[in-house]
Amino acid sequence: MIEVKSLKKRFRRAMPDSAKWRRIVSRPKYETVEAVSGLDLEIEKGEFFSLLGPNGAGKTTTVRILCTLLLPDGGSCRVAGYDVVDDQRAVRRNIGVSIRGERSVYWKLTGRQNLEYFSNLYGLRGKSARSRVCEIAETVGLSDRIDDYVEHYSMGMKQRLAIGASLIHRPPILVLDEPTIGLDPNGARALRSLLKELCSTEGVTILYTTHYMQEAHELSDRLAIIHRGKKVIEGSPAEVCASLGDENIVEITVSNSDDDVEQPLSNERVIDKILHVERGLLTTTVRARTVVPVRSVALISGLEPLRNFDIQSIHLAQPSLEDVFVSLTGSNITEVGDASSLE
Ligand SMILES: Nc1ncnc2c1ncn2[C@@H]1O[C@H](COP(=O)(O)OP(=O)(O)OP(=O)(O)O)[C@@H](O)[C@H]1O
Ligand SMILES: [Mg+2]
Repeated sequence: MIEVKSLKKRFRRAMPDSAKWRRIVSRPKYETVEAVSGLDLEIEKGEFFSLLGPNGAGKTTTVRILCTLLLPDGGSCRVAGYDVVDDQRAVRRNIGVSIRGERSVYWKLTGRQNLEYFSNLYGLRGKSARSRVCEIAETVGLSDRIDDYVEHYSMGMKQRLAIGASLIHRPPILVLDEPTIGLDPNGARALRSLLKELCSTEGVTILYTTHYMQEAHELSDRLAIIHRGKKVIEGSPAEVCASLGDENIVEITVSNSDDDVEQPLSNERVIDKILHVERGLLTTTVRARTVVPVRSVALISGLEPLRNFDIQSIHLAQPSLEDVFVSLTGSNITEVGDASSLE
């Protein structure tokens, strides 16, 4: 349904050190950033596929290219069999889109007026437009508030309306860029179940971007983790997590003391990588990947550096997407993973 091959997109932007004086006396210096660098994706019909990556990973750029808002610099993308450069109209007919940060509904209109407006844009008139609007309002759970002004909607309702608007023309593919950002847990949950429903009962293929690991895990049939414009791993959430091995993650909690526990631990041969450190008020928890499967916590509790600490607990943990991300990229997903500069 969506096929991306060796996709590339570069941007030119003013260097951060392009100080005001430089702009006045000479031309500002520019750098080229590779937002997407050789991305390959294949998304099957009816699949819920997530692009997971930190800020600046290239998620929105990929989405903008797929929905014909941006031209690629290299590679190719086909959506429902149509090329995003050569067959733009056909691509747009087959795709519904909601992109983060782009206000896609009119706040001064009611929900119904918005949906009617979008139906008209897609050529629906009169009775067929009215019935499609009711259908969509029902699908996105807004029937009882459809005649309210959008400015009085909650964030979650606005988001659901935007998704409703993108579904008006019954596209077989829905592309959503971080739709749960800014929603409270209930709003996000409602939106996720709506999307799951669309995918499972109506067979809509969904490409979803997020930097929430848990969300990607819960929703996706398959996902790709991207970092600095490149795919680092792809598969079902279970396959991606299993890439770290089944018994290679330990979580060690010690009482806080004047010394850091993670540094001496990371020097131990059995510890391959420190994945996460969480400092609480009284305790510090270190999540680490080991070089060999750990079948008994005794191996860990006997480590020399831990002798100086008051151990609260040690247990084996299931690998998470976050662990995979840290293992493969060396950084945490909450850190800014900006695209690499080429100059
Ligand atoms: N119009 C633009 N001009 C210059 N640079 C851009 C432009 N759009 C994106 N970039 C750069 O391209 C890189 C990828 O940006 P993109 O918005 O695709 O990332 P993202 O994964 O969507 O991040 P976020 O999670 O913050 O939304 C970043 O380094 C960004 O600064
Ligand atoms: Mg983005």
